[in-house]
Amino acid sequence: MPTLDWTGKQDAIRAARNIPYRLLDFDDNLSCGDNSSNLIVQGDNLDALNSLLPACKGRVKCIYIDPPYNTRSAFEHYNDNFEHSEWLSLMYPRLELLRRFLADDGAIFISINDEEGHYLKVICDEIFGRNNFVSNMIWKCKSGGANDVKGIACDTESVLVYAKNISTCKFNKDSGAQVTTNYNRTDADGRRYSLDRLDKQSLGYQVSLDFPITGTDGKVYVVKHKNPQNKVARWRWSKETVAQRYDELVFKYPYVYTKNYEKTDGAIPRNLLVDERFGRTRSGKTELATLFNNVSPFVFPKPTKLINFLLSIATDKESIVLDAFAGSGTTAHAVINLNASDGGKRRFILIEREAYCETITAERVRRVGGEFRYCRVGERLFNEMGALNPAVTFEQLASYIWFKFTQTPRLAPEKSSPLIGIHEGTAYYLIRGGLTPETLSTLPAHDGKKIIFAEACRLSETALQTSGITFKQIPKDIR
Ligand SMILES: C[S@@+](CC[C@H](N)C(=O)[O-])C[C@H]1O[C@@H](n2cnc3c(N)ncnc32)[C@H](O)[C@@H]1O
Repeated sequence: MPTLDWTGKQDAIRAARNIPYRLLDFDDNLSCGDNSSNLIVQGDNLDALNSLLPACKGRVKCIYIDPPYNTRSAFEHYNDNFEHSEWLSLMYPRLELLRRFLADDGAIFISINDEEGHYLKVICDEIFGRNNFVSNMIWKCKSGGANDVKGIACDTESVLVYAKNISTCKFNKDSGAQVTTNYNRTDADGRRYSLDRLDKQSLGYQVSLDFPITGTDGKVYVVKHKNPQNKVARWRWSKETVAQRYDELVFKYPYVYTKNYEKTDGAIPRNLLVDERFGRTRSGKTELATLFNNVSPFVFPKPTKLINFLLSIATDKESIVLDAFAGSGTTAHAVINLNASDGGKRRFILIEREAYCETITAERVRRVGGEFRYCRVGERLFNEMGALNPAVTFEQLASYIWFKFTQTPRLAPEKSSPLIGIHEGTAYYLIRGGLTPETLSTLPAHDGKKIIFAEACRLSETALQTSGITFKQIPKDIR
């Protein structure tokens, strides 16, 4: 498959594979409520994602990101002026990391405009797989203006959509789609429908689809040709289908019809996102201003209606939603709105690098009634000499070890235990301190292979072997 290359690509890929693992420092003063499953993380998303991976790999149903578009502007709040290669090097490793968060039935939505959009499509094809491309949604984000533009004014932005796995990813129907069909008839069972003519002018003439049908009234129905010298019309159904589904046909001389039933579970989502329904760039700002004394504290927040819609087609009520370029926190606001409208328990994880993560991102979520834990990307788990950071908590170390050795996420247990989990028949234990005959006797039993992580081991090789224990020394064996 053709791929995109640029100066620095290999360095970006290498750097992404060697990100030092950092601790997340929770700040209870900035956290809100006691809902610990929503998270706001302040820090560079490459570090933050790397630290979240052990708990969240493969668990996120929907990722929405709205990265800097590289419009060459230095906004008041964040930089949007990158050299082209630099922008690609920013995005590539982050997208690679984000892909690992997606559940098998998950999807990622990426807002972008024409500045970098086409390059983004090529790197996304490489990272997510060209066959996992779902849609390029077009959002009409402006209406008028831009009269001083040379050439052609652009009123739209894109939202690129990729599935983790196109064969397992299902999108929900759009329950708010405008219905243009007039369902003016009702069946005996109460279902509404409209009648569709079986003959069509627009599908291309085929001799095999131009045959007489005898109706239930005994009359003969034929395809109507306005000009018999130049036939264009034909039935929509073949002879076999007419025979098999004859009962579904409605005969009203001289026409044959099929019934088109009203879809009560919503319509297939479509890729054109119109401003009347999903808002514009300006409405995002107005909406944010209403929460901050009528002055929007952020340049280009997305309208919640737009994100609400994306989440409504891509999540279920229990989904985890991740936004790694959180800005003013629109994604969390949309999660809160959607949960309120359908009684869902969706959870969100937001990451924002700038200091306004506290004053705008978290503050907005607080003002719309959201609960979350707030943390910052902190110190490295291992210092340059390879020593373990003494500030690491038991649970943080347990998650790190579990993920490193099993490559699966570890859900925080209700009660802390030295038995941190069982994977493929092997029990993993973590002891802060040394492994001695006394500590061994207090460990929860496991009938099978055991791997014990501790700082030292006072058991003999023979004792380890007879108990089926593999000892791993901290920090040497876990770096
Ligand atoms: C276009 S804004 C997102 C706006 C957001 N969708 C909203 O509705 O408010 C992009 C955000 O990504 C943040 N950002 C850029 N690079 C980042 C990085 N490496 N790590 C974390 N955040 C970053 C910027 O600070 C900025 O707030």
